[in-house]
Parts: sequence; C-alpha cells; structure tokens
Amino acid sequence: MSGSALFETFTRAPLAFDHGEGTWLITDKGERYLDFAGGIAVNSLGHSHPHLVAALTEQAAKLWHISNLYEIPQQRRLGERLVDATFADKVFFTNSGAEALECAIKTARRYHFVKGHPERFRIITFEGAFHGRTLATIAAGGQYKYLEGFGPKVEGFDQVGFDDIDAAEKAITSETAAILIEPVQGEGGIRPVPTQSLKRLRQLCEQHDLLLIYDEVQCGIGRTGKLFAHEWSGVTPDIMAIAKGIGGGFPMGACLATDEAAVGMTAGVHGTTFGGNPLAMAVGNAVLDVVLEDGFLEDVQRKALLLKQGLAGVADEFPDVIEDIRGTGLMLGLKCAMPNTKVNTALRDQHLLTVPAGDNVIRLLPPLTVTDAEIHEALDRIRTGARGLADAIAAAAAK
Ligand SMILES: Cc1ncc(COP(=O)(O)O)c(C=O)c1O
Repeated sequence: MSGSALFETFTRAPLAFDHGEGTWLITDKGERYLDFAGGIAVNSLGHSHPHLVAALTEQAAKLWHISNLYEIPQQRRLGERLVDATFADKVFFTNSGAEALECAIKTARRYHFVKGHPERFRIITFEGAFHGRTLATIAAGGQYKYLEGFGPKVEGFDQVGFDDIDAAEKAITSETAAILIEPVQGEGGIRPVPTQSLKRLRQLCEQHDLLLIYDEVQCGIGRTGKLFAHEWSGVTPDIMAIAKGIGGGFPMGACLATDEAAVGMTAGVHGTTFGGNPLAMAVGNAVLDVVLEDGFLEDVQRKALLLKQGLAGVADEFPDVIEDIRGTGLMLGLKCAMPNTKVNTALRDQHLLTVPAGDNVIRLLPPLTVTDAEIHEALDRIRTGARGLADAIAAAAAK
C-alpha cells in the first residue's frame, strides 16, 4: 500500500498551490513561486486572467454542456476564428492534445481510404517526438520508455532521426499516408526544426501525395511569438493538432485541416462527448480575444528576446551548469551541463518553477503575459541557482 489513493504515475514535487495570480503561484502558507513552467505551456495567459475568469463564469452560469448532437454557437465561432487565422478550412474540437493527434492521424488515414488507398496508413515521425499517451500517440512518439509494457505497439508509425529529412524521404513507401512533426519539439528538448527542413518535407508531401501534419500542441497559440510556430517558416501543413495554450488551463484541444485533407471525415466517422462544449469554447474564444489583440504577439517576441539575451548572459557566467540556450519565443530551453533534474530542483529552491525535458534540457514556458520585471526576477533567480550549483561543483572538485 502506498500513501496515496492516486496512481503512482507522476513523480510529484512536494508542493501544492492554493491560488495563482498572473505569473505567480501561491501556496496556502502564502509562499510565492514565479511560474515559468506554465502548466507545461498551458497557462498561456497566466493564472486567473480576468478576461478568462469572466468568460468561464459567465458561461458557467448559463450552460455547461450540451452534446454535439446540437448546434453549439460558441464552437462554431471559435472554429471560424481558427479557420480565419490559419491555413485550415475545418476544425474538430477535443479535450486534450493526444485526442487532437488521434483525430489528426485518423483524418490522414481516412483521406487515403476515401481516395481508394486503404493501404496507405503509415505515418513518418521523428526521434525525440512527443505526441501524447494514448496507444496510437505513444506509437507515434516512438519512445521506448512510454511504450514498454503496453502490449504490441500500434501499427503504422515509422520513425527517423530528428531533422533527418533524407531518412524521411527514404522511409516513404507505397503505404505512407503522412508525415507528422512538431515544428518545435517540446518534450524532446526544445528543438526547433529548421525552415529548410519543413520546406523539404512539404515538397516530399506534394511529390508523394502525403499529408503534412503539424503537432503544435506545445508550440502553438503565441508561444513562439506568432500565433503558430510554423508561421515563422511560411510552410503550412494539411492537418494540425493544437491544445494546451488554446484553453489557458481549461482542458481542450483541436484538430485543424484543409477541406481536402478532411475529405474522409464525414458524418459519424469520428466523435466526442465533451469536445467543444460551451465551457471550453467560451474560454478558447476568450484566449483568442487576448492573443489576437493588436501588438500582443509582437510584445511576446520582444519579451522573448529580453529573456533569451539574459539567459545567454547567465550561461556565459556559469558554463559548468548551463551549456547552451535554445528555442524560440517564450519556449526556451537551458541545455544543462549537469543533470537537468538537479538544475530544476535548484531553481525550485529559488521559488522559480521550470520543467525538465529530454536531451538534458530545462524548459522555460512562462505565461505569454509575463512582465519585463518578472523576466528580470526570473533571471536573478536563475543566476542565484546556477551560482549555488557552480559553487558546489567547485567545492567538490577542490576536495
Ligand atoms: C507536442 C505535444 N503533443 C501532444 C501532447 C499531448 O497532449 P495531452 O497531454 O494534452 O494529451 C503534448 C503534451 O505534452 C505535447 O507537448
């Protein structure tokens, strides 16, 4: 018997929060933590954003849930707004990122099915990817640590090296349906995919009638300073999964697609009970109200530069702790020169919350509403944490 009624699937920090204000989380003892973890890129507008609170409470007083058997005007509106703002013509709302990916995978497979090619169901993915924890998305992610013990891996995913476009080309067969990629890998260690590589993938898709699927669950909704990360490259997908930031903390996701890519997603072939319900849609619309305000994304870009330059200074000062700074926008990574979990704990001791990622990286994913003063405060805390770690390394070496 363990001490908790919960599945032991999470290694939790010994910390619980009572409430949040903007970029800050506050324990029941009144201790304040600067939140640069952002619920792993979920709290796009920080905690208790007044516009989101108002949208959710107003909707809560009117109507919580009405199934997709009926019209949901807020859903129609959010769908239209996402279509207006992107490459997409159609949207399917989900409750999570993994479900958005499931919908993306199914959309790609159905496209080939209705075109008379049911044999084309395979999807090429990239090393270090993370697409969720359902059976299909762990197969897509291809990481052994997530697949082990869950029976046969779902068939149909072929993985090649990160940013290895030659290998992706070689992996294309007569059974390939699509290529699935995060324009900036999140959990893989904050690894942006070069524009040139996305361009080549787009060309391969054109050449072989494959669908290009982006996973912007983590890097989307303003995180990189554009509404979607791929906008920096100008290379649009056929299908895209989003989640996290669009709900600002309310669980929701969406699969976006062109009319052509969604051709197989006809009445009855896919569904959801909760996806797109009025509560989620009220919040999603409210998030877009803020993120699409004039100047909001430009300000994210400006603040991102401030943070990145500050981090580069800290990395120069403490090379034994931080090897390199990577990433784009407010999706930045500290490549650690020592175990990233130690750095994460040292920063938490400074009351700064961050998230470990693959490739020995620490992720910084502050709310897009973070202020300049909070960025300076975070840099001070990172410097203090890094100094403590560097001093400990020096003291151990001197023994
Ligand atoms: C890029 C990416 N895709 C998919 C997912 C899965 O999203 P969810 O945990 O909401 O199912 C995540 C979650 O971290 C993610 O970062």
